[in-house]
Amino acid sequence: MKRAFVVGHPIKHSRSPLIHGIWLKAYGIDGSYEAIDVEPTGLPALFARLRAGEFVGGNVTIPLKEEVLALCDSIDPLARTIGAGNTLVANNGKVHGFNTDFVGFLGNLDQKAPGWSEALDQVIVLGAGGAARAVLVALRHRGIGSIHLLNRTPGRARALAHEFGGPIRAGGLETFGALAPAAGLVVNTTSIGMHGTRFDELALDRLPKSAIVTDIVYVPLVTPLLADAKARGLCVVDGLGMLLHQAVPGFEAWFGVRPEVTDELRSAVTATLGQ
Ligand code: ATR
Repeated sequence: MKRAFVVGHPIKHSRSPLIHGIWLKAYGIDGSYEAIDVEPTGLPALFARLRAGEFVGGNVTIPLKEEVLALCDSIDPLARTIGAGNTLVANNGKVHGFNTDFVGFLGNLDQKAPGWSEALDQVIVLGAGGAARAVLVALRHRGIGSIHLLNRTPGRARALAHEFGGPIRAGGLETFGALAPAAGLVVNTTSIGMHGTRFDELALDRLPKSAIVTDIVYVPLVTPLLADAKARGLCVVDGLGMLLHQAVPGFEAWFGVRPEVTDELRSAVTATLGQ
């Protein structure tokens, strides 16, 4: 039986076992997917088990996503750019590291707002932390023209824009209003929205009516940002789909079937969000 895992610390809130468990059952695969709680100091021992063939691979979550890169035998270039790995694939005694968060971001928008990137010119990305890196890689992968990276601490946005190069301009959150009329997509990559927190003031009314607003926060599913955007008649895409779609490449690599993100899967995971 092929065994995969999700590793993190703590790990009991991870929805990954539910997602992969539903897929294993749906596709009739003789496999398992378990949650493993490991502190950073325990990672080398887990890698030894991977190399020994006990597992076909696994997902990695907080706080281990950065640490795993140093332990992998090879790292996908995009995972290196993002600076974090969330998917491990074991093969012939070697462990290969990937980051599928950018795939999740693109898959979510492709499913919920088909054609979103076709005539898209300008994007506003809020936040300049680790999650912003995956979103920037995704937007660059899709060839998006112009990106405004806005952060509470503008210096951090400037540093990230400099590191990534290309069409990224950095600024503070207060510049949102001036940039909004030309923006076709707004992405929140900050933790604002969790626990009912909200942006002090974001001039959503200055966005064009055709703009899409998306959030990587999915607890709550409808963040205050998404609720405000929806109230203004804008298209909103919640962050749950990113979680579901980032799981696809790992499952395919471990179990040989490309799984589908269905409404049933979404409902099953949504049902756990209130807990
Ligand atoms: P992650 O890896 O999840 O992106 P992070 O690296 O800690 O986490 O980044 C968190 C992001 O949320 C940062 O952009 C942070 O802004 P700062 O760089 O100014 O700290 C942003 N953020 C978190 N809380 C915030 C708040 N209350 N107001 C504005 N921005 C906030």
